[in-house]
Amino acid sequence: VRLAKYLAHAGVASRRAAERLIEEGRVTVGGVVVRDPALDVGDPAESGAAPQVEVDGRAVAGPEPRIVYALNKPVGVVSTARDPQGRPTVVELVAGREHREGRAQGRRGRETRRLYPVGRLDADTSGLILLTNDGALAHRLTHPSFEVPKTYRARVAGAPVSDRALRRLREGVRLADGLTGPARVRRLAADMLEITIREGRNRQVRRMCEAVGHPVVSLERVGFGSLALGRLAVGRSRALGEGELERLLGR
Ligand code: URA
Repeated sequence: VRLAKYLAHAGVASRRAAERLIEEGRVTVGGVVVRDPALDVGDPAESGAAPQVEVDGRAVAGPEPRIVYALNKPVGVVSTARDPQGRPTVVELVAGREHREGRAQGRRGRETRRLYPVGRLDADTSGLILLTNDGALAHRLTHPSFEVPKTYRARVAGAPVSDRALRRLREGVRLADGLTGPARVRRLAADMLEITIREGRNRQVRRMCEAVGHPVVSLERVGFGSLALGRLAVGRSRALGEGELERLLGR
């Protein structure tokens, strides 16, 4: 990693401003003044060791470690970072907790990490959603080309659900934005379906169920890739372990 980029990623300054700081002789690496913005300071993500970089004699903290939380989103909470209508957000639910733990560890509130939701759930859908400080990871897990399977439990109206409706859901349903891909569908009860899709169109599960004559009464996401919601209580979050993260990324 180039020194200027390293400083920019650490949040010291923009790339251009970091280059100026370096050229002005205000940056040291390992105690030595460096005037070359292109100096390679290694990749801390690979080596695990952050270089000793100082600006005006103050140590620069290395890039923050990657963190991924699983949250059981309650109904009524929105999946964006901020809501124009002022509804509670998933970021606030997890950040509230980060904030408290940060305090306990002596970190100040403004040092709380910036978190991004990984994809979206409707405000009226509950269940598993991930949040991370790693924008590239969020992209990797939500881009349609990666086809991450997502599993939902849907309570539906018009029970019992017929075999024909199940078959249509499995084979593909024609929606206003085109045919849906193959889905895994199980009938858990006369009015309860478990549906796994690899797409993520807007309100897709609700529209699929409606299209086969069974409008959704309530919807919960219980699986995302290799991860299951498990026993995480509504409104609670937990940080994923390294093993869980590796499996999620298919490694
Ligand atoms: N499908 C839906 O209809 N809603 C969601 O929140 C997710 C998938």
